[in-house]
Amino acid sequence: IKNIAVLTSGGDAPGMNAAIRAVVRTGIYHGINMFGVMQGYQGLITNNIKPMDARSVSNILHLGGTILKTARCLEFKTDEGQQIAYQNLKKNNIDALVVIGGDGTFTGAKRFSETFGVKVIGIPGTIDNDLVGSDFTLGYDTAINTVIEAIDKIRDTADAHDRLFFIEVMGRDSGCIALRSSIASGAEAVLLPERATSVEELIKKLALGAATKKSSSIVIVAEGHKQGGAYDIAKKVKETFDHYDTKVTILGHLQRGGSPSSFDRILGSRLGFAAVNALIAGETEQMVGLHGNAIKLTSISEALTAHSFKLEPDLMEMTEVLSI
Ligand code: F6P
Repeated sequence: IKNIAVLTSGGDAPGMNAAIRAVVRTGIYHGINMFGVMQGYQGLITNNIKPMDARSVSNILHLGGTILKTARCLEFKTDEGQQIAYQNLKKNNIDALVVIGGDGTFTGAKRFSETFGVKVIGIPGTIDNDLVGSDFTLGYDTAINTVIEAIDKIRDTADAHDRLFFIEVMGRDSGCIALRSSIASGAEAVLLPERATSVEELIKKLALGAATKKSSSIVIVAEGHKQGGAYDIAKKVKETFDHYDTKVTILGHLQRGGSPSSFDRILGSRLGFAAVNALIAGETEQMVGLHGNAIKLTSISEALTAHSFKLEPDLMEMTEVLSI
């Protein structure tokens, strides 16, 4: 392998810069020419590809976002888009790609690799933690820290006013952020996309809390919850349970920004290092991931399979027990 390009695609995640830095420096250390593709797959189509040296990734470990920029590129989903991207890779003599992103990124990479034989290694970078083959995805830990910092602040004012707050967190199909944040912030209830919780059940729980002298209550709602978002749930609850003054906060994109935690900086560095080593070892269509405290490879196809097992059963049980 002589020339490797790295890109970030889909939603950004804190720790992506640590991964980019590790990919670039590991490649250069081994005498490989390194390139950065700007704006994810969009940059492959527009030929926005630049050489990167060791200094081009200096002082970025602590930065959120991604120095390579990112995009959700619809054109790369088409045959024409993939064809143009391949021609641009050939023009730049690039023989392998490291893609950092989530399920959309990996779906695109798999098809591209299968069609054109380009070697690809994936790094799981998404705050959603919804990929098989890595206990933690890049950005997930930082996002949870950001969420609990916000909830701690809301708890202060909720308690001062004896209010009920519904707080919506990210996770279109994944309740991972919601579940962990609920344990870490001591939320009274959590609504997950993977678990059906009726409004009646929720009201029963909140009523019990009120009867046992809870002065304030916090309900975390994952954005993908089947009964609706935080505003919908708050409205439905208020129709029959009006014990508390009720407020809603949507945390939104603040969950995606910020300086990565030490965990995400180290994870990004480990995964970037492992991705280039995997390419050197001749691997392709694999994702590097964290398994226990070791780095392992999982095929990209497997990484994209169902992920609901990622909700730890003991945490699920604790949401009922510890919130009484
Ligand atoms: O996949 C990461 C994520 O932050 C999801 O949790 C969320 O549903 C989605 O991206 C939001 O995407 P966008 O930034 O494109 O609105």
